[in-house]
Amino acid sequence: MSHLTIYAAADSATELSSTDDFEEISTVLGAAGIRIERWQTDHDLAVDADNDSIIAAYQTEITRLIDERGYQTYDVVSMNPDHPDKDEFRKKFLDEHTHGEDEVRFFVRGHGLFVIHADGKVYAMLCEKDDLISVPANTKHWFDMGPNPTFTAIRLFNNPQGWVAKFTGDKISSRFPLLEN
Ligand SMILES: [Fe+2]
Repeated sequence: MSHLTIYAAADSATELSSTDDFEEISTVLGAAGIRIERWQTDHDLAVDADNDSIIAAYQTEITRLIDERGYQTYDVVSMNPDHPDKDEFRKKFLDEHTHGEDEVRFFVRGHGLFVIHADGKVYAMLCEKDDLISVPANTKHWFDMGPNPTFTAIRLFNNPQGWVAKFTGDKISSRFPLLEN
């Protein structure tokens, strides 16, 4: 189930709050400038649906975001636990970093942990199927896909060539919980 845990950035041992109430999650993250939405589709998506079918199923929502935020392109990515490079992929975004554009992900299936460091707090958002999250440009965060990564996600970009991680060098992420699964 989608879940938000908030900590003080200076104290990973104490949870300030923890909730799986999506309305509360959306209010709290919204106040911190982080978009979170839940998307539904009328399409019957097979477990092994191809990328075009996945895009078609969520085209209305994708177009709405593009119109609102000016995203230039989008794609679909998948990870599964038997991927030979899963550990390498996982490690890639475990350290705190920023991007020059929004990091926008919609979880078609599976899950992933987005952890945002803002306003002296750490927001650990476990995204599940049907969750859309947008981490604003230049916002410190890290991402954990877990030791057994399982997800299919739609990504939206301003500029896919420019989507690179700028690492802050702060080891803060090592003090906070990661996914166990
Ligand atoms: Fe990122």
